[in-house]
Amino acid sequence: MGVSTFSIAPMEKIASTGAGLLAQIYVLRDRAITRDMLARAAGCGIKSIIVTVDTAITPIRERDIRNGFRHLSRPTLSQMLGLAGRPAWLAGLAGGSIPTVGNIDRYTTSRGVMAQARDVAAQIDPTLNRDDLAWLRENWTGQLIVKGIMHPDDAVQAVDAGADGIIVSNHGGRLDSGIRRGGEVVTALALGATAVAIGRPWAWALAAGGAPGVGAALDTLAQEIRDVMALAGLCDIEAIRTAGRDMLWKF
Ligand SMILES: Cc1cc2nc3c(=O)[nH]c(=O)nc-3n(C[C@H](O)[C@H](O)[C@H](O)COP(=O)(O)O)c2cc1C
Repeated sequence: MGVSTFSIAPMEKIASTGAGLLAQIYVLRDRAITRDMLARAAGCGIKSIIVTVDTAITPIRERDIRNGFRHLSRPTLSQMLGLAGRPAWLAGLAGGSIPTVGNIDRYTTSRGVMAQARDVAAQIDPTLNRDDLAWLRENWTGQLIVKGIMHPDDAVQAVDAGADGIIVSNHGGRLDSGIRRGGEVVTALALGATAVAIGRPWAWALAAGGAPGVGAALDTLAQEIRDVMALAGLCDIEAIRTAGRDMLWKF
């Protein structure tokens, strides 16, 4: 599991469960914070970091504006009505403490998740370039994975700067991303991917069905992968890689 910089739970707490983690980080204007994130990741046994390089700006997000997502501290009438329809969730919230962005709240004096996330998002360095990747490489001895690559030339540059791997994605599915079905996982493997990451499916499953919902989504994906493999006559993952892109016409 990749732990987002903006995770509500600090990486130390998640790591204490024994789960295998990768830490997703940004290069921030204040390099001391980035350095601290690296030290924390190493300190809790994390061996790989994912550095996201495609978030130079926070664009206009019309749905967030329409839904009042940026102003949760001042709920609108429709949000209040929505909350009123979920008494069990509200009761759970009342029993706990006010949520903070636990992974990064130490780097901001703001209170409340939105203000804390905004402060750190404003710290993301828009001038990020390959020298910064080289700087990261010097400051991190574990695996370095660059996320947000869309062009072969950029992949080569990332590897030249010392990356051990790249994640082909465009941060938020504005053009592509979108692994949603097992068949897409098999396609990615046939095209040479060593792994496939999912961003939204688990979040949708969590919203719809809580923790069991996430389990069900992962089970469904696994079942779909097995089904596609069986229908395509592929016995194991290695067979997908061996078949390569030539097998894709079968879909
Ligand atoms: C609500 C939301 C929050 C995200 N937060 C982060 C983040 O903190 N760090 C990051 O590198 N990418 C973040 N992303 C981007 C995802 O990691 C992923 O690249 C993107 O959603 C595309 O993959 P998908 O089609 O599987 O969702 C976020 C995406 C969404 C929708």
